[in-house]
Amino acid sequence: MSALKNKRILLGVTGSIAAYKACEIIRLLRKSGAEVQAVMTKSATEFVGPTTFSALTGKEVLTDMFIDPPPPGEIHLHIAENVDIIVVAPATANILAKTAQGIADDLLSTVLLVSDVPLLFAPAMHHNMWQNRATQTNMDTLKKHGRILIQPDYGSLANLATGEGRMAEPAVVVSKIREILGIPQDFHGKRVLVTAGPTREPIDTVRFISNRSSGKMGFALAQAAIDRGAEVTLITGPVYLKSPEMCSVVTVETAEDMNRAVRKISTQQDFIIMAAAVGDFALPSPQKSKIKLPNHTLTLKLQSTPDILKGLRSISDAFIVGFALETEDGEKNALKKMKEKRLDAIVLNYANQPGTGFETDTNEGTLFLRGEKKGIHLPLESKMKMAHRILTEVKKVAAKEPMKS
Ligand code: C5P
Repeated sequence: MSALKNKRILLGVTGSIAAYKACEIIRLLRKSGAEVQAVMTKSATEFVGPTTFSALTGKEVLTDMFIDPPPPGEIHLHIAENVDIIVVAPATANILAKTAQGIADDLLSTVLLVSDVPLLFAPAMHHNMWQNRATQTNMDTLKKHGRILIQPDYGSLANLATGEGRMAEPAVVVSKIREILGIPQDFHGKRVLVTAGPTREPIDTVRFISNRSSGKMGFALAQAAIDRGAEVTLITGPVYLKSPEMCSVVTVETAEDMNRAVRKISTQQDFIIMAAAVGDFALPSPQKSKIKLPNHTLTLKLQSTPDILKGLRSISDAFIVGFALETEDGEKNALKKMKEKRLDAIVLNYANQPGTGFETDTNEGTLFLRGEKKGIHLPLESKMKMAHRILTEVKKVAAKEPMKS
């Protein structure tokens, strides 16, 4: 489940050509599970119609302070009290000036004045307006008042002039929202590859050899990395899970397919987390039609699949994390795998303990990190919580010794 699930976000849209970028912000927020209420200024509606915003938010867009017939209570108070954060994107020089000076002359500026939740502004304007002393003084005032501002980008502006004033990209705004709501963005700008689920090795056109992996641990790791700002690729075997948003998903079937998919992008990654339960054996040449069963027995000749992890160290500078699912002698086996496969970390978990391993929503294990003598106990908790703990510990070690690429 995404970390923005059930967060209530008020998005103020003001009159800038960048209003269209607010549509993408809404889409990203809603896909991450957040609820979004849009409030538009009158001039914002000249750029993008309220219908677009109501379609994207699934709610009526608020534009006016005085509605006919008047709703019960005070609309600005009601809106301001029922959200976790207010984001103004794009924020014009006008709304920055009004908020800095405490002017409340329309619905959005009144909501901003009455609110006591975090206020985030993503300014967008012509570079001369941005550099104008009045705007810069207003920015200083807003910062002094504890308001959070996202620096506009340098680049091509609406009139094709070049300068500082382009609204920050929607993904940057969403990442800042997550950070303000308490989700660390320590993987921002990092590329993370996660593998998940089982593989299927065909016997014939209808039968296959597989395992009980549900993919839940790998999916939780992918979601946790997305929530922490990473650019994530999830390579997954056949599972019955909803793919995370804001991530590229590659579906594969066999160990050989997964190997090819991983190797194709492994050199571009900062972190590779192999949570997939890759099949160890496959038929060299599965039959192209349904095997007619002989009398009583069927003998299958199997050969080992490529060890994806083992081959990665020599081609990738990424921080590589493996998983070891064991039934006995866990620590000994995990450390052996870590050494043989030249991993930076390995997560040991058990297939034969209640609440851990395959198919469950919870997990328990031990994380071994390179250079650390003792493993870190990962207590029995949800796979999502365990995923966050793994990322936190992995990031600490990776930061100590920066990756080569
Ligand atoms: O040796 P074992 O299969 O237990 O190792 C588990 C780790 O190795 C997991 O991270 C799994 O994703 C990875 N693995 C692999 N290629 C295989 C088998 C396992 O990358 N053929």
